[in-house]
Amino acid sequence: MTLRSFLGLIKDRWKLIVVVTLLAGAVSAGVTARTTRMYSSSLTFFVSAQVDSSNVVQAYQANLLSQQKVQSYANLLTGPMLASAVVQATGISMPTAELQSRISAQAVPQTVLLRATVTSESPRRAREIASAIAKIFPDQINELEHTATGKASTAVVQVVAPPSYSDAPVSPQPIRNVGTGLVLGLLAGLALAAAARSLDTTLKTADQVSQMLGGKPVLGLIPYDPATRSNPVPGDESLAGPRMEAFRKLRVSFGFLEVDTPRKVVMFTSALPNDGKSTTVCNLAIALGTVGTRTVIVECDMRRPQVGRYLGLPNGAGLTDVLLDRARLEDVMQTWGDDSVDVLTSGMLPPNPGDLLGSRKMEQLIERLRERYEVVLLDMPPALALADAAAVGRYCDGAIIVTRHGRTRAAQLRRVCDSLTSAGTPVLAGVLNMVRSRDTGGGRYGYGYGYYEAERAQRKDARLGAQARPGGAEAEAETQTAQAGGLAGSTT
Ligand SMILES: Nc1ncnc2c1ncn2[C@@H]1O[C@H](COP(=O)(O)OP(=O)(O)OP(=O)(O)O)[C@@H](O)[C@H]1O
Ligand SMILES: [Mg+2]
Repeated sequence: MTLRSFLGLIKDRWKLIVVVTLLAGAVSAGVTARTTRMYSSSLTFFVSAQVDSSNVVQAYQANLLSQQKVQSYANLLTGPMLASAVVQATGISMPTAELQSRISAQAVPQTVLLRATVTSESPRRAREIASAIAKIFPDQINELEHTATGKASTAVVQVVAPPSYSDAPVSPQPIRNVGTGLVLGLLAGLALAAAARSLDTTLKTADQVSQMLGGKPVLGLIPYDPATRSNPVPGDESLAGPRMEAFRKLRVSFGFLEVDTPRKVVMFTSALPNDGKSTTVCNLAIALGTVGTRTVIVECDMRRPQVGRYLGLPNGAGLTDVLLDRARLEDVMQTWGDDSVDVLTSGMLPPNPGDLLGSRKMEQLIERLRERYEVVLLDMPPALALADAAAVGRYCDGAIIVTRHGRTRAAQLRRVCDSLTSAGTPVLAGVLNMVRSRDTGGGRYGYGYGYYEAERAQRKDARLGAQARPGGAEAEAETQTAQAGGLAGSTT
């Protein structure tokens, strides 16, 4: 894993990582709070051999002897003999084995010092036991050395640091425990995040979408904008903001879409409900209409029609009425805004939308619309659960598939593609909707895909041309406007 992908992992899954880290910290804090507090008391012995101090060689050997004995005495300190003598002397009600486990001993390296530590639930009890050790242990050593040699003991054990006393518990150690918990939690969070990412098959980049579409381009990346719910179709071309900018770019990319016929009949579908088909169709139609492209939206979603609602148009008679010969097209066609976008709402909801949409009448209607409009956009229901898109697809030039960022799975998009292709509908391109800002490549939309590159190249050319000519800035603006209109309008 490169540093870049590691940072990307943190950025993508920071919530999971934070939650797991805090959870582990909380668990270790809880365990620490429930753990019995232990206190300790330590004392230090000095082990010396009795020799003639005037003889340097003997003094050196005695020192070596003391160092060797210190290790043996350390074992005796934690042995059963001392523990049982302490139990007897203090009268504490504790099994000898348990007391033994409470005593630890450590020979200070390269010295003749021996440190003993007693731990207990009470600081006073710890010191009481340590005091008993201070009294009993030197006598025990004296006795042992005497019995072994039959002479006066040559090794003397003296207390040089009396038993300590401290109210501060030696365990648990809250800071160390919680710190360890947080670090382990962080590692577990990162591991979980990596596992979740490797199991996540939802599509998040134009690259992934294009791959699932068999190399077809992604025409646009529409950013996630919470305001869409309350204002799905802002309408005003002049509006600033990344979402409106994305639709302007989508319009330009749409102009590059290659179909066999000069006029475009394109349907918009997606794998699942709520992927953003209707909002995309409405906003693209308005963006096209704004630059003078005669555009019509046909609401082919007869199950959950939303286009009328999004555009503020009544959904009275519409498509179904025309298909059933209950109304004339001219009578039910509505106009949105300044005459540039016409809308054919779904009309009365029929019991058999699939049959109606796949009918010969539908084909004839599409051909009539193709004659009247430069661009015909069909808003379809989702393609995975319903066959409506496949039924209409054969009358269109092709389909654009809306993919919802972080929700549509690779396999779902593949299935949509396959079902459309096998029904004879060419898949023309994709649109990635609800893109979270972190996946837009630093606020820029477009991943170096064909259309964007072409657009950028054209803009650069226009800029260079404008600079070369007098009146550069205005000329450039005009060139860009003409391009946008021209590209969209080039379908005529
Ligand atoms: N870019 C976006 N950012 C935030 N919310 C969005 C975006 N695009 C669409 N939405 C919201 O998602 C919901 C579904 O949008 P829309 O109706 O366009 O989806 P749909 O694919 O047409 O749904 P259906 O399958 O029901 O026809 C709406 O509430 C809309 O406001
Ligand atoms: Mg819809």
